[in-house]
Amino acid sequence: VSALESKIDSMVEALNERSEKNALDPHTDLNLAQQPSKDCLWMPEHLLSLYGTPTYGTLTDEQKLKLSHQEFCLICSVSCFGEKEVIASIARLMLKKQFARVRSYLYYLIREENNHIYMFSEFCNRYGELYPSLYSYAQGTIWEDPIVDDLMVFVHVLVFEELGQGLNLAMSRDDDLPELVRGINRLHVEDEGRHIAFGRHLVRDLCERILPTVPHETRSQIRTHVQEYLNTLHLDYHNVRIYRSLGIKDAFDLRTELISRRDVRFFARDARNTVRLNSLQQFLRSVGLLEDLPPAQVNPSV
Ligand SMILES: [Fe+2]
Ligand SMILES: [Fe+2]
Repeated sequence: VSALESKIDSMVEALNERSEKNALDPHTDLNLAQQPSKDCLWMPEHLLSLYGTPTYGTLTDEQKLKLSHQEFCLICSVSCFGEKEVIASIARLMLKKQFARVRSYLYYLIREENNHIYMFSEFCNRYGELYPSLYSYAQGTIWEDPIVDDLMVFVHVLVFEELGQGLNLAMSRDDDLPELVRGINRLHVEDEGRHIAFGRHLVRDLCERILPTVPHETRSQIRTHVQEYLNTLHLDYHNVRIYRSLGIKDAFDLRTELISRRDVRFFARDARNTVRLNSLQQFLRSVGLLEDLPPAQVNPSV
C-alpha cells in the first residue's frame, strides 16, 4: 500500500465513522408536518434571484414573500434533480475497480442523497411545488476517454455541492426563516460537509493520476468545460414560471436578460459565499481543472 493509498484509506475510514456517528434521518430528525408560515420569508432577501434588480423594486411585500416561498421550493427542486444525477452516476461507478478504495463511503453518500431527495421533494409536495429541472445537471459533453468521464462525474458533483452548500448554510443560520426551512438546510449542510471533504480528496487524487496521462488538447477541453459548467449553474435558479405567477410582465425576457448577464458570481452574493467561491476556484486551479483568473469580488447581484 503506497503512502497515497493509505492516506485515502484513513480518510475513508474517518468519513465512514463520522457518517455513522452523525447519521441524520429526515423521517425522524425533521418534522415535515410542521407547516412553515406564509407570513414570513422562506429565503433571505439577498438570495432571491430578483433581489437588487429594478423589477425587485416594483414588487409589493406580498409578492416578495411569495417569491421567497417559491424560490425556496425551486432550490429544493434543483437539489433533488441534481441529487438524482449524483445517485445515478455514483451507482454506475461504484463497483468499478478504480473506486474500490472509496466504495465503502459511497454507500453512505448514496443513502444520504436519497434522504435529501426525500426531504426536499416532500417539502415541495406539501408546501409548494416541485419544479422540473430544465437544464441537464450533468451536461452532455461526451468524453472519449472513460477515465476522463469518471473524473468529470466527481468534478460536477463537487462543484454542485460546494455552491449549494453556501446557500444552505446562509439559510440554516437565518433566524427569520421558519423552523422547518432552517432544519432542512441544517440537515443538508451537515451531510454535505462530509461529501465536499470527500469530493475534494477524491478529485485531487483523480486529477493527479489522470491529467498527466491525457493529451494536452483534452486537458484544455476539460478546463474549458469546467469554466462553462461554473458559468451556467445559475440558470436553474431563474425560473420563468415563478416570475409569471407573480404577474411580472415579460417574464421570459427578464429571465433571459438575467441569466445572460450573470455567471458563477451569482453564488457570491455575500461575503461568506464569495470566500467560498474563491476557495472552490482556487482548488480547481490547483488541481489543473481551471485556468488562472483573478478572484471574484462580492457580487451586488445586478
Ligand atoms: Fe444532498
Ligand atoms: Fe451531497
